[in-house]
Amino acid sequence: MQMHQRLGNDLLLDVRDLETHFFGEDSVTRALSGISFQVKKGETLGVVGESGCGKSVTALSILRLLPKPGARTVGGEVRFQGRDLLGLSDREMRKIRGDRIAMIFQEPMTSLNPVYTV
Ligand SMILES: Nc1ncnc2c1ncn2[C@@H]1O[C@H](COP(=O)(O)OP(=O)(O)OP(=O)(O)O)[C@@H](O)[C@H]1O
Ligand SMILES: [Mg+2]
Repeated sequence: MQMHQRLGNDLLLDVRDLETHFFGEDSVTRALSGISFQVKKGETLGVVGESGCGKSVTALSILRLLPKPGARTVGGEVRFQGRDLLGLSDREMRKIRGDRIAMIFQEPMTSLNPVYTV
């Protein structure tokens, strides 16, 4: 019983059935469908896949940084420390972004400033 509770508290990120589409003029690209994974506190998760398979779109969907208009998460859940990120207001989301969750964008040489420690 106690063990169960501890495991629950260690769960940081819980992504379930994430589904993100890009809407073109007369077509829809289903970039993500059925993406599910969990990250526990202190755990490192690597996501590997061919170019264009959806790694960046997964991260952008979690942080709600998808290009607007054009892309939208149409299904699934993103729970971070038990909170449903997809249901938060823009204001609440801005408090989490950069403070609790951050993204180092592709091309780390341009994304990271060598003058600062990480
Ligand atoms: N700006 C966009 N407009 C339309 N479709 C897009 C756009 N960005 C991504 N996609 C679609 O989402 C899919 C996943 O792209 P994503 O950038 O997540 O791939 P990736 O796994 O990060 O690739 P890479 O290893 O090259 O970084 C693409 O194959 C494409 O169909
Ligand atoms: Mg990418």
